[in-house]
Amino acid sequence: EKGGYDYFMLKEIAEQPKAVADTLLGRIDASGSLTLDEVRIAPGALREVDKVVVVACGTAFHAGLIAKYAIEHWTRIPCEVELASEFRYRDPILDARTLVIAISQSGETMDTLMALRHAREQGAKVLAVCNTNGSTIPRESDAVLYTHAGPEVAVASTKAFLTQLVACYLVALYLGQVRGTKWGDEIRAVVRDLSRISEEVEQVLETMEPVRELARSLASKNTVLFLGRHVGYPVALEGALKLKELAYMHAEGFAAGELKHGPIALIEEDLPVVVVVPSPKGRSVLHDKIVSNIQEIRARGARTIVIAEEGDETVVPYADHLIRIPATPVLLQPLVATVPLQVFACELATARGNEVDQPRNLAKSVTVE
Ligand code: F6R
Repeated sequence: EKGGYDYFMLKEIAEQPKAVADTLLGRIDASGSLTLDEVRIAPGALREVDKVVVVACGTAFHAGLIAKYAIEHWTRIPCEVELASEFRYRDPILDARTLVIAISQSGETMDTLMALRHAREQGAKVLAVCNTNGSTIPRESDAVLYTHAGPEVAVASTKAFLTQLVACYLVALYLGQVRGTKWGDEIRAVVRDLSRISEEVEQVLETMEPVRELARSLASKNTVLFLGRHVGYPVALEGALKLKELAYMHAEGFAAGELKHGPIALIEEDLPVVVVVPSPKGRSVLHDKIVSNIQEIRARGARTIVIAEEGDETVVPYADHLIRIPATPVLLQPLVATVPLQVFACELATARGNEVDQPRNLAKSVTVE
């Protein structure tokens, strides 16, 4: 059942091109419009939405953080993202014009379930983004957009995460379509690029041997830091989470702009620091800033592991290790940038002799608060 792989996690990482393609299947028509009939919230009600709140836990929360960039950029609706376990204890402001998106692979996470119940009691509409058919979270929501990742067995979430991102992009684009906001050339181009993303994920998977080698060489380290900006920031958080849960290493993700506000004090000789570099096109300001962040940490002795788009030559002089990913539109980059971090954590866990599919102290579905 592991299909020839040593671990379910490896199989699930390899299944990602198909998983993202399946999540897109039947949801974009030939003209490039979205047909999300499953979202049974009337277009009229979606046009009224004046705030989106995403609630989720763990990896699904990181998908939510990325969704915020897409939702606000493409729809201009303010979007908040909150850990489900924090959300309902702080008396959040919600009403009938609030759209709550609850993201959950299992559909059974208690904190997320309690958050959505709270939201519905306040009159908000709840859309679940979920991977498990008929589970509790979609049953209790107003509508559901299923991620079609297929069963995810390994405790550490991989293909579910990528498909959560795809589903969130679809929701953002759909909201844009229904509301007519910014629905133009840019969005059409993104829809086109999204339909090609599966091949790009495949391309990343084909070039992972140097990442595995690098991971093995770091097996005796205690700490790895991850830096990113914009959508690369949640990718950094996800890379760190994967490393904590699988390799049992101290790993932290930071917004690169925060470095000088504290974390730079952690940099010491030979400390591995993974940096997710934003696309050089479109957001050149961010790109230049992260290049100077890489210079800063390298000047202090960090071992820089740089994830950058093909053709981005500016980072070459500062990268001790360079991991190439295909060029994508700025907002879609997490779909390709996360994959090397999954492979990295999985290989480090193996090198450290850890149980990859069943990390210590963790359960696949967290049905207690
Ligand atoms: C990390 C991981 C967890 C889950 C979290 C939410 O690899 O798997 O952080 O993402 O427990 O689970 P779901 O998505 O089932 O609500």
